Amino acid sequence: MALEPASEGDIQLAQRIISAAERHDVPALKVLLKEGSANVQDPTATVATSPIHAAIAACGKAEDGKEADESAIQTVNLLLQNGAIWNDLNKEDDTPGCIALKLGQKKIYELMVEAGVRAELLFSKMEALGLGGNDEAEEEEEVAGEEQPAAKKQKVSEEEAKPVETVDEKVLDDVSLDNKVYLKSQLRYKPGILLDESDNAVMMDWETQIMQRHAETIAPKKGLKLMNVGHGMGIVDTAIQTHEPSEHHIIEAHPQVHQRLREQGWYEKPNVIIHEGRWQDILPKLVEQGVVLDGIYYDTFAEDYNALKEFFSEYVIQLLAPEGKFGWYNGLGADRQICYDVYTRVAEMDLYEAGFDTVWEDIQVPPTLRGSKEWEGTRRPYWTIDIYRLPINTFVK
Ligand SMILES: C[S@@+](CC[C@H](N)C(=O)[O-])C[C@H]1O[C@@H](n2cnc3c(N)ncnc32)[C@H](O)[C@@H]1O
Repeated sequence: MALEPASEGDIQLAQRIISAAERHDVPALKVLLKEGSANVQDPTATVATSPIHAAIAACGKAEDGKEADESAIQTVNLLLQNGAIWNDLNKEDDTPGCIALKLGQKKIYELMVEAGVRAELLFSKMEALGLGGNDEAEEEEEVAGEEQPAAKKQKVSEEEAKPVETVDEKVLDDVSLDNKVYLKSQLRYKPGILLDESDNAVMMDWETQIMQRHAETIAPKKGLKLMNVGHGMGIVDTAIQTHEPSEHHIIEAHPQVHQRLREQGWYEKPNVIIHEGRWQDILPKLVEQGVVLDGIYYDTFAEDYNALKEFFSEYVIQLLAPEGKFGWYNGLGADRQICYDVYTRVAEMDLYEAGFDTVWEDIQVPPTLRGSKEWEGTRRPYWTIDIYRLPINTFVK
């Protein structure tokens, strides 16, 4: 969050920092940043802006022959080194990276993606070490929280929920903020869409092509042992069936989805084994039984990135055959291009650390989706970008 200066002197310093950033005056900025913060705002400005937003906006459009020069790049780097926040929002709801993207400033955009990856990796390491409570980390989380309006599927991290504690369960105004609360909430199956109790779209049928491709990538031939986690509208499971698996495990935790599986005859299908419950409870048992699978697909709801990470680094490594394929729904931060790019890269790095190589396939999302009627009646669009990056993971050789 940008800091608003209090005194007249602070305001002047803020104005000088923003002005030096805007002029890409690196020597002046170096001196000024010894006294002031890289995250100041000028409260007297008509459109409040942080120094890094100002520095990037001042680059202009690359297509007008204004490709960012060395001093612009140095300015952005200097501000980042001094703590400028990669996903800070200005009044237009743009991060610095969003501005770079709009201006076609590829080098600057790449700097912002790299900064986002560094910040998120550091933040997750601090969380793992129990150091998430310091001011800077909290500040970062607050900004990242504002970055994730998309409720569907993997959220980047837990948003600030507004829980009202009752005796033993939370009441949330958005059930997707807590997996266990979601699993107790009412679902509605409507034509082409599955909604939760808070009107979040859990699944939509525009994703059919994506699901079919995921099924193909985890099942390159017939007769394999496959597993899908999260049945939803059954799109991926229907696609998996066309590859005639010798075993087709489905893990699903929501009672209404079990009911639907029953109504649609999934329990009677040959080779289909339905595991009712959360994957967190089912998978340790499958590991204990020594189950080995040729393909695993993961697409749940109301779970954050940490759940996905736990899924592959704790379980996929134990359940997947040496030549097996792992796929997962890549919806991380899909309502903002820079968040999608940052988290796609973070996931790739964490997957590598867990022992997986990743191949990405780009799939064009229907161009008519953005702002379309498909989102009517939903809480918010969880997808606003053009390309779905489909991951295919195999063990590192
Ligand atoms: C986005 S939908 C899956 C859509 C599916 N890929 C399709 O093609 O229709 C997510 C599903 O995961 C289920 N789910 C959520 N959390 C779960 C958990 N912890 N364990 C198992 N299933 C879960 C939800 O109830 C929902 O049915």
